[in-house]
Amino acid sequence: PRHIYGERKNSWGMDLSNEHVLSQLQDDMTMASGIDFNVSSLTHHDVAHIPAFAVLNPANHTDVVGQVAFINPNQVSDVVGVAINAQHSWQNVSPKQRADMIRAFADLMEEPKRMALLMMVAVREAGKTLLNAIAEVREAVDFCRYYADECERLNLSTPLGAVVAISPWNFPLAIFVGEVVSALCAGNTVVAKPAEQTSIIAHLAVSWLHEAGIPTDVLQLVLGAGDVGGVLTADERIDGVIFTGSTDVAKRINTLLAKRSDNPVLIAETGGMNAMIVDSTALPEQVCADVLASAFDSAGQRCSALRILCIQEDIAEPMIEMIKGAMDELVVSDPRLLSTDVGPVIDSEAQANLLDHINTLKQTSDYHEVRVTDGEQGTFVAPILFELKDLSQLKKEVFGPVLHVVRYKAHELDDVIDSINKKGYALTHGIHSRIDGTIEHITNRIQAGNVYINRNIVGAVVGVQPFGGHGLSGTGPKAGGCFYLQRLSRLDSWDIPT
Ligand code: NAD
Ligand code: ALA
Repeated sequence: PRHIYGERKNSWGMDLSNEHVLSQLQDDMTMASGIDFNVSSLTHHDVAHIPAFAVLNPANHTDVVGQVAFINPNQVSDVVGVAINAQHSWQNVSPKQRADMIRAFADLMEEPKRMALLMMVAVREAGKTLLNAIAEVREAVDFCRYYADECERLNLSTPLGAVVAISPWNFPLAIFVGEVVSALCAGNTVVAKPAEQTSIIAHLAVSWLHEAGIPTDVLQLVLGAGDVGGVLTADERIDGVIFTGSTDVAKRINTLLAKRSDNPVLIAETGGMNAMIVDSTALPEQVCADVLASAFDSAGQRCSALRILCIQEDIAEPMIEMIKGAMDELVVSDPRLLSTDVGPVIDSEAQANLLDHINTLKQTSDYHEVRVTDGEQGTFVAPILFELKDLSQLKKEVFGPVLHVVRYKAHELDDVIDSINKKGYALTHGIHSRIDGTIEHITNRIQAGNVYINRNIVGAVVGVQPFGGHGLSGTGPKAGGCFYLQRLSRLDSWDIPT
């Protein structure tokens, strides 16, 4: 695992403590909120769509964000054909030219009015809080600049071919853009399918990528649900799939691709059952702040979010009380308000799954639940902490603001680590301790992509903290890291500059 120390840097140098900066952003967002979105796929040739439906704001179902039309699945094959035909010409565009187009797109996203538009859509379509929406755009910009630099450094000229990029709703711009621009930088043509819940922000991104110079046959957007992703990944002409989403869907795609004899590439980044281990030397106030940020920021809808908090028995009682007290201060409300800490979950299906898990655990475990300030109109789930005797009740990733706490005695540390490893996921974990030997011991024994020490466990920074896991959490290589573009090309290792 990669050792990560320190806080994330603000790559824009934007001073978020400056009220003027924020109020200007909010004014621009308000102006952008009047736009009537009406989106469909962006393909090189016209394709047929099925009738459009209304996208509702997850925080307020009376707010219609726009109308989205999904592609008719019968049309998907033609779109793939266009991507394959465009491959040769795109491969011949120099890495420098490709990189410059991606940088031009990043510049567009950083124009204040466009940035505010993206943020406004991230808030209304995906339920992001204002601060999460800023981070969302910033990460998308970081991906562009990082992969553009990598593209030039590696001078990549032998791509895989035509690549399908499938992304989730929880980072509807950052992960979508990261997948698309990495594949383009490596010289591949791309058919992109964003999560059905967040089609509008993806549509904005692709239209601006076209504006920045990426040809319309080199990058196409298809809007649709899982069935469209299924048709795309079953097309035997595609050369690779970049997928971020649930472990179950990744397994399905893997099974499809494995049946082919030509070994198409699969990059899958999936779920986690992330833990933080807190020993008796930890600083309680720091632990408390980091637990809240890791478990409840983004309403717990991060693959990296904290699900399992393991506290050494000696400090468990006061530590848990402190966390409960801090939870009571969380504001669960309208994500447009700066005072809001926790917004809605994405939709009623996610809400129902979470409530199912919560109601089951409530029958057997002690819990502490937060009050939702203003959630009548949307799909909110109150942040909740459960005290569990052991981890046997946790079978799968729980994707929301639900924290499970277990206590351990000092001599049980290895058993705790092993029980976390046995879950099969290996994404993000955290350690809070002031003993170097303990940190080293846990880091060496725990299965993880990233281990964060004495800090929160979310918000990996592109190029600084490459992000990804293994086991049920994915295939690697890490996004935002130096091996990513290489996996998207057929470059031989001796071609790579040192
Ligand atoms: P999901 O798997 O339901 O959907 C992801 C994408 O796959 C969507 O675009 C969806 O339409 C598509 N899809 C669904 N069925 C498909 C099929 N049969 N074939 C092809 N594509 C199909 O995931 P989600 O609910 O959108 O996102 C949440 C999940 O994503 C969580 O499990 C989370 O941990 C994971 N995630 C992982 C990372 C990471 O970097 N490891 C980052 C963000 C999210
Ligand atoms: N890269 C995202 C994070 O670190 C998922 O939270």
